[in-house]
Amino acid sequence: MSNVQNTLSIIKPDAVERNLVDEIKIIFRKNNLEIKESKKIHITKEEAAEFYKVHQSKPFYNDLCSYLSSGPIVVMILSGENAVLKNRKVMGATDPKKAEENTIRKLYGISIDKNSVHGSDSIQNAKIEIDFFFKN
Ligand code: CMP
Repeated sequence: MSNVQNTLSIIKPDAVERNLVDEIKIIFRKNNLEIKESKKIHITKEEAAEFYKVHQSKPFYNDLCSYLSSGPIVVMILSGENAVLKNRKVMGATDPKKAEENTIRKLYGISIDKNSVHGSDSIQNAKIEIDFFFKN
């Protein structure tokens, strides 16, 4: 039985700044993650705080929100079989030092903060995160 899902992906400021958008999109497509929507935006710190509010009790929350709003990002809807989990595998571990070979974070991540990409961690959060950026 097919299990096509949508998930939200963000190419973060460190990767946009280094012109890695096309390379990262190629990796998604190679892994059968279709890019259904894509837009380049620059969000405010308040918007970043709303997006990352699940992390509001964490010590890194303030820096995280400053960082995501520090420059342009590319937000995308990815679609495919088991897209939520597939995208997380393609991205690799949050900390690039711990990510597997050939994952996006291993290839391009600089640090746990500048880890090049974000991806939804569950089907439920994928719906919330897609609505956040793509609901009119
Ligand atoms: P992301 O998948 O966008 O979700 C939250 C982000 O917080 C995460 O990627 C990291 O870039 C960032 N972050 C910073 N410090 C930590 C930490 N100690 N543990 C987890 N995430 C962290």
